[in-house]
Amino acid sequence: RTLRIGLIPGDGIGREVIPAGRRILEALPASLGLKFSFVDLDAGFETFKRTGVALPDKTVETLKQECDGALFGAVSSPTTPTKGYSSPIVALRKRLDLYANVRPVKSVAPSACFPDPIDLVIVRENTEDLYVKEERTYDAPNGQGKIAEAIKRISERASSRIAIMAGEIAIRRQRVRESTGGAAGKKAMVTITHKSNVLSQTDGLFRATARAALEQARFRDAGVIIDEQIVDSMVYKLFRQPSDYDVIVAPNLYGDILSDGAAALVGSLGLVPSANVGDGFAIGEPCHGSAPDIQGRGIANPIATLRSVALMLEFLEQEEAAARIYQAVDGNLAEGKLLSPDMGGQAKTDEVVEDILRRL
Ligand code: NAI
Ligand code: MG
Repeated sequence: RTLRIGLIPGDGIGREVIPAGRRILEALPASLGLKFSFVDLDAGFETFKRTGVALPDKTVETLKQECDGALFGAVSSPTTPTKGYSSPIVALRKRLDLYANVRPVKSVAPSACFPDPIDLVIVRENTEDLYVKEERTYDAPNGQGKIAEAIKRISERASSRIAIMAGEIAIRRQRVRESTGGAAGKKAMVTITHKSNVLSQTDGLFRATARAALEQARFRDAGVIIDEQIVDSMVYKLFRQPSDYDVIVAPNLYGDILSDGAAALVGSLGLVPSANVGDGFAIGEPCHGSAPDIQGRGIANPIATLRSVALMLEFLEQEEAAARIYQAVDGNLAEGKLLSPDMGGQAKTDEVVEDILRRL
C-alpha cells in the first residue's frame, strides 16, 4: 500500500525537523509492505510574508484530495499584531475537521521525582468549548468600567466522539502493552476531566456524554475502566503520581493546559509529539514551536517529530510501522550516547536521526 503524505515544514526549525520525518518513513523496512509518496506544501509566516496568506487554499485542497496524512513542523507567530495573519494550524484543524488533539507523554528513564515510568496520553477536544471565540466586551452599567464575556459551548456530538476516540486509544494501548509485555499491571483506563461541580450544564454535559459513550459494550468488553477527576485535582494528582494515568480526555481548554503541563513532567519540548486527528485523517505535529533561538544551527531535537510520525501512522492504522519507530527512538534515548543539546548531549540533528535510522 502507498500512503501519500503532505509535508508542511512551516517556519524556523520546522524546516530542519520535517525532513527527518520524511527520512524515517523512507527508511521503514520493506517487509512492512508500506510505501510512501510525498508532496511539499506551504504554510506559515514565511509563506504569509511572500504571498499574503498563511494557509494557501492549495495546501488545504491538496491535503483533502490527495493525501492520507500529513506532517506539520511549526509556525512562527508575528511579534506585533499583523493584519490578515491568523494561525495556519488552527485554521487547518477547522477546515479538515481534525476534532482531536492527541498528546502522548512518556518518560525517558526513572527520575528521582518519578521512579515509576510515565506513559499517558491526553486526548483534547479540538473544536469547541471556549475556543469558539465568541467574546464580547461592553460597558458596565453606571460607568463602572468594562465587562468582557465569552461563550463556552459544549455539544453532545463533540463530547461523544472525543470520548470514543479516547476509548479506542485505551484499547489500542492495552493491546500494545500485551503484545510487548510492557508495563505489567497497567490497566486500560480513561479519566474524564471536567469541572461539573461548578459548571453543571457545560462540563456536566461533557461528563455525562463522555461517560455514556465509554459505557458502550465495546469498551466494557475490552476492560476499559472509566475514571473521572475534577480538573484542579487532576492537575494535583497528575503532578504527584503521573504513573497512575493512562488516557485522559478533556474539553478543549483544560486539555490545552493539561497537555503542556504534562509535557513538563518528561523534560524537553524536543521529545513530545502530538497529532491532530479526524475521521480517516491525521496530521502529526511536534509540540514545540519554531525555536528561533536555535534555528539554522542544525541542533534541533528531531525526536518530537519522529514520534509525531509514529503517532500519525497509528491513526492511519499502521501500528507495526509506528511501533518500529517508537522502539528505535527509545533505543537512542536509552543508550544516551547521541543526544541533542537540549537533552544534555552534543549531537547534531542529523546524527540523532542517523542513529535512530540504524535502529529501525
Ligand atoms: P518554542 O517551542 O519554539 O521554543 C521554546 C524553547 O524550547 C526554546 O529555547 C527552543 O530552543 C527550545 N526547543 C523547542 N523545540 C526544540 C527542539 N526540537 N530541539 C531543541 N530545543 C527545542 O517556543 P517559543 O520560543 O515560545 O516560540 C517560538 C515561535 O514558535 C513563536 O513564534 C511561537 O508563536 C511559535 N510557536 C508555534 C507553535 C506551533 O507551530 N504549533 C507552538 C509553539 C510556539
Ligand atoms: Mg498549547
